[in-house]
Amino acid sequence: MAILVTGGGGYIGSHTVLRLLEQQEEVVVLDNFVNASPQALTRVAGLAGRAPHVIEGDVCDAALLTRLFATHRIDAVIHFAGLKAVGESVREPLAYYQVNLSGTLTLLAAMRAAGVHHLIFSSSATVYGQPEQVPLTEASRTGGTTNPYGTSKWMVEQVLRDLALAAPEMALVALRYFNPVGAHPSGRIGEDPRGTPNNLLPYIAQVAVGKLPSVTVFGNDYPTPDGTGVRDYIHVMDLADGHLQALRHSRDRTGFSVWNLGTGRGHSVLEMIDAFRRLSGRDIPYTLAPRRPGDIAECWSDPSRAAVDLKWSATRDLDDMIRDTWRWQSQNPQGYSSE
Ligand code: NAD
Ligand code: UD1
Repeated sequence: MAILVTGGGGYIGSHTVLRLLEQQEEVVVLDNFVNASPQALTRVAGLAGRAPHVIEGDVCDAALLTRLFATHRIDAVIHFAGLKAVGESVREPLAYYQVNLSGTLTLLAAMRAAGVHHLIFSSSATVYGQPEQVPLTEASRTGGTTNPYGTSKWMVEQVLRDLALAAPEMALVALRYFNPVGAHPSGRIGEDPRGTPNNLLPYIAQVAVGKLPSVTVFGNDYPTPDGTGVRDYIHVMDLADGHLQALRHSRDRTGFSVWNLGTGRGHSVLEMIDAFRRLSGRDIPYTLAPRRPGDIAECWSDPSRAAVDLKWSATRDLDDMIRDTWRWQSQNPQGYSSE
């Protein structure tokens, strides 16, 4: 039997595909490469010593999914495919609801028709909207999302909850990622954003390598220890391991489950810049600017439910995250186009 990984060519997907291959799983990747390079999977195959089966195609293509499930013996799906740029989602809401919501509905319908019962879905801490208090537990209030990207993740969670009630044979999991960062320790695979990065760590990395002149710090008047935003950064390899544990756990279970994947620790923007400077030995100039609209002051997880249920906890600390990001960025200054 094989595991279907949608969006397996992307940042989190490629690291997870590598871990699955290392565990001797058979992997089928479906990706349309709208935000990924096929190079990532070539490098994954090099690291694993074996390759996934790669299908180039769209998760919204119902006929393709029907063929895929008829051709490959799939027993579980890890569903990363989606669009993830918050600002773009405000400008192009239909594209985001089409891919993130409708694409998931198409996938679920094809899974049901093929008798495939296990799904792990990439949700996000964004479903908590403006947190009432931190740390966030899975029982914290969700909704109140402020952009179509976040709303699409929240909507899919409602769909999964309803489907689990109607189809009691299904095991549907939503993993709420906090802030994924870092790269495989080999420096061979990592995050390769198209254009100017939206997220903090890739931005800092591009300043450190000399591609961008300075970091803009969005707000230093938040009610946090140094006034800058605080987030729960989590190493992408810990995240990949979290998927393997969730898959193991859901194999002999049914119903809808939600787990936070975070470290339970928050770091401020200035702490991130300082740590990057220390570990890369590079100068990281920054300028202060007003808050970014839609940003929250602080957000970190209570990761204890995953520790108890999944026997999973993050094991890599901030220095690991930054060292591995820097190795990837300095060895691949142009991302996957470097080679
Ligand atoms: P990514 O953009 O690197 O990966 C997404 C992958 O999906 C890409 O390979 C892209 O080419 C593919 N894809 C997009 N639309 C597709 C379509 N219609 N059909 C087939 N493939 C398609 O993003 P990522 O950071 O690896 O994120 C993976 C998932 O995790 C996404 O669903 C994202 O929303 C979610 N997530 C990411 C973060 C984060 O900060 N990176 C945080 C929380 C949740
Ligand atoms: C953003 C998204 C969120 C998504 C998450 C992970 C927004 C409003 N939210 O969250 O939906 O789930 O990424 O992909 O975009 N910062 C700077 N300068 C920068 C970039 C960021 O100061 O150039 C600050 C931010 O204000 C924040 C912190 O760094 O305090 C982290 O930002 P970012 O990496 O974009 O993640 P989130 O804001 O948590």
